[in-house]
Amino acid sequence: MPTAVVTGAGGGLGRAIAGRLARDGHAVAVFDIDGAGAQATCDGIGDEGGSARAYVVDLRDVSAIDTAMRDADAALGPVQVLVNNAAIFPAGPVLDVTAGDYDDVIAVNQRAYFFAAQAAARLMRTAGRGGAIVNIGSITQHGGWSELVPYAVTKGAAAALTRALATELGPFEIRVNCVAPGAFPTRAEEMQGDLEAYSKRIIDSQALKRRGELDDVAAAVSFLAGPESSFITGQTLNVDGGWIMA
Ligand SMILES: NC(=O)c1ccc[n+]([C@@H]2O[C@H](COP(=O)([O-])OP(=O)(O)OC[C@H]3O[C@@H](n4cnc5c(N)ncnc54)[C@H](O)[C@@H]3O)[C@@H](O)[C@H]2O)c1
Repeated sequence: MPTAVVTGAGGGLGRAIAGRLARDGHAVAVFDIDGAGAQATCDGIGDEGGSARAYVVDLRDVSAIDTAMRDADAALGPVQVLVNNAAIFPAGPVLDVTAGDYDDVIAVNQRAYFFAAQAAARLMRTAGRGGAIVNIGSITQHGGWSELVPYAVTKGAAAALTRALATELGPFEIRVNCVAPGAFPTRAEEMQGDLEAYSKRIIDSQALKRRGELDDVAAAVSFLAGPESSFITGQTLNVDGGWIMA
């Protein structure tokens, strides 16, 4: 069975993506710093008859990413899909951001995306079997977004990384695309005060007048990870109910 590695799948969107890729026929390797969350995701997949393994990985540690990637390939099955999903999103005024805060956001949201892609692509290329990498971006890369500056920088980088990797890895039949979500109900919303007013603002911004569901993002990832998108690479797909139309 081919393996899909999903980073940050110990909860939120990553858990929904992991479940969907398992239903699509992948063994799933869940990379997360939160071991209990990662195990809960795997248990859920197991309950549905799928196969999954939890890896406690701090994505700030590049060598840990490589070790886990090679282990997943050997233990679960050939890595055919990587979803770079884990991210942190500290919010606060730009004038208060410290070098330590900034480095952490870059390490998780940007550097780990690169090195996870490198580790996966090495395996995909060696076996000559191709594969698909999906980077989770964000619509915050478009326009301005206050009090999220370091995060928005990394989400712009996810789209740039997608295009550059797609160009270099295309000759090896490795496709690289990006899914940029709008606003979804995960722990990202915990920082919002009045949830009802927040939801109304989101719906007012979208062309479609409902809140997005986690499975909306998982479906887009499933498409870009699977054979139906075999001639699509280097693209960013906004999954945002028609919020950004660029
Ligand atoms: N929720 C939204 O509305 C929204 C909107 C746009 C983009 N996104 C993107 O979707 C992705 C998932 O977001 P989410 O809302 O599900 O977040 P989340 O906080 O619910 O999940 C993120 C996961 O990443 C893990 N993680 C954090 N730091 C880690 C580290 N150092 N090593 C390993 N794992 C680590 C966390 O433990 C967690 O399980 C992110 O890339 C985010 O930028 C989310």
